[in-house]
Amino acid sequence: MHHRCPMADPSDSIRLLSLAAHTIERRDAEVLLAWCWRRTRTQLLASAGEPVPPTVAADFERACLQRAAGVPVAYLLGRREFWSMDFVVSPAVLVPRPETELLVQRLLHLVIAPAAQVADLGTGSGAIAIALATERPNWHVTGTDASPEALAVARENGTRLVGGRVEWMMGNWYAAVEGRRFDALVSNPPYIAADDPVLESDGLRHEPRRALTPGGDGTIRADDRDPCPGPLRRRPDGGPRRILRRAHVIPGRPFQPHGTMPLAEAP
Ligand SMILES: C[S@@+](CC[C@H](N)C(=O)[O-])C[C@H]1O[C@@H](n2cnc3c(N)ncnc32)[C@H](O)[C@@H]1O
Repeated sequence: MHHRCPMADPSDSIRLLSLAAHTIERRDAEVLLAWCWRRTRTQLLASAGEPVPPTVAADFERACLQRAAGVPVAYLLGRREFWSMDFVVSPAVLVPRPETELLVQRLLHLVIAPAAQVADLGTGSGAIAIALATERPNWHVTGTDASPEALAVARENGTRLVGGRVEWMMGNWYAAVEGRRFDALVSNPPYIAADDPVLESDGLRHEPRRALTPGGDGTIRADDRDPCPGPLRRRPDGGPRRILRRAHVIPGRPFQPHGTMPLAEAP
């Protein structure tokens, strides 16, 4: 979108929001204008019609252009709420999805030892691991990822939100914690086939490829160095766009590659 957008002209918030609504969703426009103006969305709506300072309007125009090009609002803000907490996000991590809260909920409802060892494999922003650590201060939660950039974001969130109570390990799936024993494994793995055109859609194009697809047909294959086949395998009949979330729970027993349970699927 390269046409000139007259947002830098003297204007009020109502006019700016209606201009933006031609190219991006109204709610996104409100969130972005509030963010550029360092106000909450409620404050913005309460002061509808107020003149917007030109520098704020210019920042808003830039943000709208990026949003119109498909950049997720969360990357523009550098923030996303998950489990009622404010997570830092960057293009190195998947934007945590509200549906993933179901995975946290399901795991919390399973009976697991009070001082359990739990691992979140492919932790991204650390959303699942940190939500679990918040709810179960006596669990020892470990978050792993193969991406050092993602782990840096997870670590930052862990320090801010749970005082560093989550342990972070880098490596290929279970190999990151090889030799360790867990009461529960949880994962929201990548599952999309590498040639699925959905990867180029506005919603996903800007997110890390590795967070979306493991390559090939979207199935994570077990090998000797990757001994975690159960929780990370796609449903046998699952289409490439189905979201598969599983918790791998073995109460009171060490990790074994069976006993997985499907948690939630969304189209
Ligand atoms: C779908 S994202 C999930 C992120 C986060 N758990 C969430 O639910 O928001 C999958 C994550 O798996 C990580 N990942 C991809 N391949 C991996 C591998 N071979 N070993 C460990 N983690 C991997 C990606 O870097 C990404 O952070």
